[in-house]
Amino acid sequence: MIMRAIITEPPRGGVRLSEVQMELSGGVVVKTYQTGICGTDKEIVEGKLKFARPEEGNSLILGHESVGVVSDPRGYTGFREGDIVIPMVRRPGGCRMCKLGRQDYCEDGDFVEAGIRGKNGFMREEFSDDPRFLVKVNDRSILDIAVLTEPLKNAIKMKEIFQFLRLRNPWYCDDSTLTCKNLYVFGTGTEGMLISAVFKSMGINVIAVNRHPLKENVMSYFESNGIDYLDTSSESLDKRVRDQPMNAAIDAVGAMDVLKEITDNISNNGIAIMFGTNGQLPSSLYTILENVVDRNVAIVGSVDGSKEHYAEAIRFIETQGKKMRLEKLITGKHLPEDLKVFTEKEEGEIKKVIVWS
Ligand code: BGC
Ligand code: ZN
Repeated sequence: MIMRAIITEPPRGGVRLSEVQMELSGGVVVKTYQTGICGTDKEIVEGKLKFARPEEGNSLILGHESVGVVSDPRGYTGFREGDIVIPMVRRPGGCRMCKLGRQDYCEDGDFVEAGIRGKNGFMREEFSDDPRFLVKVNDRSILDIAVLTEPLKNAIKMKEIFQFLRLRNPWYCDDSTLTCKNLYVFGTGTEGMLISAVFKSMGINVIAVNRHPLKENVMSYFESNGIDYLDTSSESLDKRVRDQPMNAAIDAVGAMDVLKEITDNISNNGIAIMFGTNGQLPSSLYTILENVVDRNVAIVGSVDGSKEHYAEAIRFIETQGKKMRLEKLITGKHLPEDLKVFTEKEEGEIKKVIVWS
């Protein structure tokens, strides 16, 4: 059938609305209800998202944030005409994680993303889709906000990551809640606002940070949700952090200098989650964030170890030491008077040891 679709030509970008001939072959047929636009779409259009690519030929139908209504279930169980559905963005490749339905943790990059890389998106009148990737909305009253499901799922994943990281130590307050902890969320766009809401609902004190005065509507959203905010053009981050320590931080901006602001200010044992990537950055720095964010890389600080770590180290040497030839690490045994061990390095030196008796 012929329908209207919003098309771009990655990696060059550009955007146009065209009449396209689409086969609705296979899968559940869905009439698009709404599609959202986010920074990712804008970057694709500006030709700045390096990994954007067409499904075939030169063009890509945009749109990864979408809500639709089933127009023909084509006999798939669990689907009826009129059902509200959210199509998933990322579709699995063949790796282990993809086979477990965790293509968000794809190990080899062999996935596609609707409207972004290798798969046409949902900015078109109708599409047909594999029912495994359609998530049903049961409460019809949320139809008009259900388009937020896709960006919100990113915030929900951040919550999952946060829940793992806070298990490192008793991170919570002395009454077992998180109310004494401050989370700084950088960026007050849709994603920042959703992240703030998700974490606020966990009981943590959220401070939304932006470099510009907030628009009235954004401010009132934060106020009515009990979310604090900070405009760093009128109050410095350092000053705020002195009053409200930065126990955790989430970046939804994707600018390298935010990473610096976070690492400069975060408390000991803090948790920082980087989410955004922003194609406007100087390219050498951009790749740092892209490599971390787009590949789910966890970077975590660590210093010293506990008594239990000592005990485990001993068990390791006891059980693995010979097998793993750990003795090879000791390349020299020296008397205490052999002080050149402190200044000279021998060819092949690994660990020199001073023998005292
Ligand atoms: C989407 C993600 C996607 C990412 C990178 C975001 O806008 O929400 O699902 O993985 O872009 O392509
Ligand atoms: Zn998006």
